[in-house]
Amino acid sequence: LLDHPDQLAALRADPDGLIDGAVEEMLRYDGPVQHATYRFARTDLEIGGTLIEAGSSVVVALAAADRDPSRFADPDLFDIRRPAQGHVAFGHGIHFCLGAPLARMEGRIAIRSLLARFPTLAPTPDTSADWLPGTLMRGVTRLPLRW
Ligand code: HEM
Repeated sequence: LLDHPDQLAALRADPDGLIDGAVEEMLRYDGPVQHATYRFARTDLEIGGTLIEAGSSVVVALAAADRDPSRFADPDLFDIRRPAQGHVAFGHGIHFCLGAPLARMEGRIAIRSLLARFPTLAPTPDTSADWLPGTLMRGVTRLPLRW
């Protein structure tokens, strides 16, 4: 949101109408879990022209799927008004995140509360965020802000 001031302004102007879609778009655009846990092929199979042999491990890149242009129009655009439903930020199938309803509720409450409490929240000029190392979880370890 802080990287996209027009979207932040829109959300501030209509939090009741836009918060649900904003949280879904944040999950799609820059979700906290970049790939699922390991899967193992039970039989030989082909995905996108590549043979996956039985027993091979497969890592599904959730973050890449959520920027798939055949699923989301203009996928690198952060747009809190887009219909972002159908993203896989919480996984898919039998291992779909058990905590998804709680996480969604927490996200809506936390972001609404933060914006209401800090009406001028903005990034600190010339100081960028520090990001977690590694490929599984995405998040900041340090985020300098001013208000
Ligand atoms: C924004 C917050 C969250 C995100 C993005 C997230 C994402 C995910 C993803 C992608 C998976 C599937 C992993 C896979 O297929 O290998 C998963 C599974 C799971 N999540 Fe979450 N999660 C979140 C919050 C939570 C919370 C708050 C809880 C519990 C209160 C929770 C509990 C679980 C559990 C138990 C599983 C395993 C389900 C299974 O294997 O059957 N998650 N989560």
